[in-house]
Amino acid sequence: MDLSVNFIGLSLKNPILISAGPLTGSGEMMRKAVEAGAGAVVTKTIANEIRSNVRPRLVKGEGGLHNIELYSDFTLEEWEGEIAYAKKHGAIVIANILGHTPSEIAYIAQKVERYGADAIELGVSCPHGEGLEGVASEPSALYEFTKAVVKRVKIPVMVKLSSNVANVVKLAKAAEKAGAAAISGIDTVRSIAGVDIETGQALLPTFGGYSGDAIRPIGLAAIASISEATSIPACGIGGITKHEHILEYMMLGASTVQVCTSIILNGHEHIGLLLDGLRGWMTQNGYESFDEIKGKALTSLKSFEEIKEEPYVSQVNEGCSISLCEKCKKACIYEAIEWTDGQVTVNPQRCTGCGLCVSICPQGIFELNWKD
Ligand SMILES: Cc1cc2nc3c(=O)[nH]c(=O)nc-3n(C[C@H](O)[C@H](O)[C@H](O)COP(=O)(O)O)c2cc1C
Repeated sequence: MDLSVNFIGLSLKNPILISAGPLTGSGEMMRKAVEAGAGAVVTKTIANEIRSNVRPRLVKGEGGLHNIELYSDFTLEEWEGEIAYAKKHGAIVIANILGHTPSEIAYIAQKVERYGADAIELGVSCPHGEGLEGVASEPSALYEFTKAVVKRVKIPVMVKLSSNVANVVKLAKAAEKAGAAAISGIDTVRSIAGVDIETGQALLPTFGGYSGDAIRPIGLAAIASISEATSIPACGIGGITKHEHILEYMMLGASTVQVCTSIILNGHEHIGLLLDGLRGWMTQNGYESFDEIKGKALTSLKSFEEIKEEPYVSQVNEGCSISLCEKCKKACIYEAIEWTDGQVTVNPQRCTGCGLCVSICPQGIFELNWKD
């Protein structure tokens, strides 16, 4: 099964890009990612000013990873060699760049184009470092930044968006209007890793960004909104851990995806597992190209006004074999679930069809059915 895609004019052997972060911090790291199977790499954010990384800067949370990592600690000029090295080893390189004014970011864009980058990603969404002021949240400002870059380079420009904004749709439209070739999203979600309650100290000494499984629903929502609102390609990022997650992003409109945390946590061989999973699923389901599934789930998203009120209630479709679990009973705020002699029953008069028991049951014994 051929997984190749054409994305913003780039011929990629597959739709999995390694996103800006520690896995793409040097030419050697990018080479490793490509050898492990990545379709392309997005460099660690390249800025004019280097800020060396603080120690420690990573904390594993329950559903993901907190980081307070900043930009690349290579200078802009040093990136010439890093990009050349990665390209010499077959990488398609998208340079993620940051600037504080339209003219600064356009200057860096021209430099990385000259260094051989195949495309640019505007990294204007990091929710830490410069605080929320550093997040592109004003459509008019994002338009100016994007326009300045698009005007000065010939390679395609993708704009990376954050979910730490009031209206991601307005930003995506501004980037499209300014000539962006694609929108990617999301960057990490602004976070605090936690507090050591014995010492009263925050676990990391500043605000950071959260990534991994926990942010996937936020990323999916952003990509669905962006896909509905624009006609340029979208690149889905956030919490991709299994091949099914890639398919979810695609069914909500993404043409490609980027992955970071699950590769950090599981090693480069995880890229191969994602690719095998994708290939297997596409073959088993009789699809020949990702175009056949792209956006498939968007039509199932309705406005609240369009949702018909279906009189569903929960029903038990098989006996429960986990004694003393009672997760369903504890979580049923309507007190509709009863346990008698190890048997579970649902009281249809009390059940409001909320659906929580269906998703909470480890055995999958519940099903929502038509009331009558
Ligand atoms: C340790 C770390 C460093 C990161 N550095 C950057 C960066 O330099 N530039 C950037 O645009 N995004 C950066 N990101 C964000 C990722 O590119 C990605 O948008 C985010 O982690 C969500 O994807 P994931 O859930 O697959 O990790 C970083 C993420 C992590 C975990």
